[in-house]
Amino acid sequence: MSDTRRARVRALAKINLDLRVLNKRPDGYHELRTIFQTISLADALEIAYTPSRRTCIELNDPLQIADNLVAKAARLVMDALRATGRVEMQLTKRIPMGAGLGGGSSDAAAVLLALPVLMRREISLPKLCDIARELGSDVPFFLLGGTAAGIGRGTELFPLADGPARHGVLAAPGVHVNTAEAYRALSPRLTTESQQNKIFSFQSHTLGWGQEEAFENDFEAVVFAQHRSLALWKKRLVRVGAKPALMTGSGSALFGLFESARDASRARDQLGDTEKTYPISLVSRARYRSMWWKALEAEIEPKTWPPRSCNLR
Ligand code: C5P
Repeated sequence: MSDTRRARVRALAKINLDLRVLNKRPDGYHELRTIFQTISLADALEIAYTPSRRTCIELNDPLQIADNLVAKAARLVMDALRATGRVEMQLTKRIPMGAGLGGGSSDAAAVLLALPVLMRREISLPKLCDIARELGSDVPFFLLGGTAAGIGRGTELFPLADGPARHGVLAAPGVHVNTAEAYRALSPRLTTESQQNKIFSFQSHTLGWGQEEAFENDFEAVVFAQHRSLALWKKRLVRVGAKPALMTGSGSALFGLFESARDASRARDQLGDTEKTYPISLVSRARYRSMWWKALEAEIEPKTWPPRSCNLR
């Protein structure tokens, strides 16, 4: 009898509510100050594990994404647990790619959260974080979800309190921005003088003192200069009442937040381009956790999930 264990999980997208780039570091990455936020837009991942002496990782990805992080994440989990087995995955993409929404990173984090449970093996949070950092700068955030401050490369995370439920509109105009190139374009503009201001205004947001209208994304200047259509999308979001209206990550998607679900829905109607826009809501850490718990409930052994730090036992 086959002992296959399965789960169907949702891998949520993120937006950056605030994103400041300070300086280029000796390791080639840039020092960031950002506020990550999970949103309701999601990819779907079906994952199955069958114990076996040989390891075989199969990914059915209709879009044939090159170097898909999902397969790499599964391989790293198996290696870390020194385990073998058959892993079969089916990925359904809904999060626009190359848009600053962290879709690939979230898919990879979904494997890190789900696979050890299906394997009935415990993996510590510090180990999962190590693997997540190896996969990419945005991956560790998706182990946490909700609202979190990210500093350093974006991988040093500090959970922030869940805010009130918010609704918004996401605009994904289909422009592909290369992240590494966006950082390269931004680098010459980074001055020591501007850094202090960025640090103080970022800090005021993490403490809840800052005005939402004052949220900023340093990439807007360089990315809008290359893609005028994105600057126009920002203007359109402002015109229909978004507060704030901002690009996420290195682009190209933009989001606008509104006072109520009804305002957000009306604004989306006014924007008109419904094939390029999505209704979104901000997903709190409490909701993120309960979503994960429900998705894995049938397979969870309470001793092994959620992953935690040995310092917290
Ligand atoms: O970590 P990740 O693979 O997502 O990063 C993609 C690219 O973005 C890196 O190769 C680097 O050029 C740039 N990056 C950066 N500083 C960061 C994060 C990413 O320069 N904090």
